[in-house]
Amino acid sequence: MPQHGAHDRPPHSPAGPALSRTVRKAVVPAAGLGTRFLPATKATPKEMLPVVDKPAIQYAVEEAAAAGLDDILVVTGRHKRAIEDHFDHAHELEQALAAKGDTVRLDAVRDPARLADIHHIRQGDPLGLGHAVLCARRHVGDQPFVVLLGDDLIDPRETLLSRMLDVRDRYAGSVVALMRVDPAQIHLYGCAAVSPTGEDDVVRVTGLVEKPSRETAPSAYAVIGRHVLDPAVFGTLERTPPGRGGEIQLTDALQELAANGTVHGVVFVGLRYDTGDRADYLRTVVRLACDRPGPECVAWLKEFVAGPEGDSARREEGRRAA
Ligand code: G1P
Repeated sequence: MPQHGAHDRPPHSPAGPALSRTVRKAVVPAAGLGTRFLPATKATPKEMLPVVDKPAIQYAVEEAAAAGLDDILVVTGRHKRAIEDHFDHAHELEQALAAKGDTVRLDAVRDPARLADIHHIRQGDPLGLGHAVLCARRHVGDQPFVVLLGDDLIDPRETLLSRMLDVRDRYAGSVVALMRVDPAQIHLYGCAAVSPTGEDDVVRVTGLVEKPSRETAPSAYAVIGRHVLDPAVFGTLERTPPGRGGEIQLTDALQELAANGTVHGVVFVGLRYDTGDRADYLRTVVRLACDRPGPECVAWLKEFVAGPEGDSARREEGRRAA
C-alpha cells in the first residue's frame, strides 16, 4: 500500500478549529469501472477525468482536507495506478518546472501530494459501495470516519462536510447528506424516510432504501455522496447480504443503523454537481469553468448560446481568413 507523506502542507490546508475534532479519516471509494464513460475510461480511471483543470477526485480530497481530515484512504481497483501517481510527487516534472521558474504550475503539481496523508488500498472484486467501505475497516479502526463519493462534487465554497461533522459531534452515530430531488429522479439515489429534530437542516433518518421507484419512495430526500459514519457500520456491513444489483449496498447497512435510531441527516441546499454521467459531467465542467477561468468562458458561452447564426458566421469568417 503506497503511502504518501504530507509533511509540507500548502497554505490553504486547514488548521485550527477543525483539527480539534475526533474525526480525522476519510475514505474515497474509487474502484468503479466507469462504464458510462467508455471509451474515455478504457485506460484512464473515471475519477481522473478532468473537471476544468483538476481530476474529479482531487475536488473530493480537497474538500476533505478543507474540513480538517488529514488522513485519506482511496479505495481503488484495477487500472487505477494514475490515481496513486496523481497524489504522489512527480520529481522529474517538478524539477523541470522549478528550473523554468514556473512556480504557479509547480505548486499545482505539488498540491495533490500535500493535501493530506493519502493512502491507497485495492478493493479486489467490485462488490459494491458497501464492500468498498468495508475494505477500509482495518485502516479506519474503531473511530468515526467520513466517506466521500467522487461522483458528487460539492462546490468548494460550501461547508457541508463541516456541518455534518458538527452534527456528528452533537448527536453521535452516523450522519448522511440529504438533498430534496424531483420525485421523478429518486430512483437514481438512496432515499431516506425522515422525522424532524427541531433544527431546520437536521433530520432524524428513520429508514433508508436504495434506488426505490417513485411510487414506493418514502420521501423526496435523496442521499448524496457525503457520509460521516460510526464504526458500528463495519459490523453491520459484514452481515449485509448483496442487495440491489447483486451488490453490497451501504444504504442497506445504514438502514439497519437507522432502525436503531442512530442516523441523522443534514439537509443540503447548496451547490452540488453530478459528474457521474456524461451530460451532468459536461454541465459540471461548464459551470465550474464559468468560475475559473471565469469571465472569458462566460463571454464565449453567451455568444455561443446566442444562436447558430453567430456560430455559422464565425465559421464563414474562419473560412475566409484561411
Ligand atoms: C450511490 C449510492 C446511493 C446514493 C448515490 C449518491 O449510488 O448507492 O445511495 O444516493 O451514490 O450519488 P451510485 O450513484 O453510485 O449508483
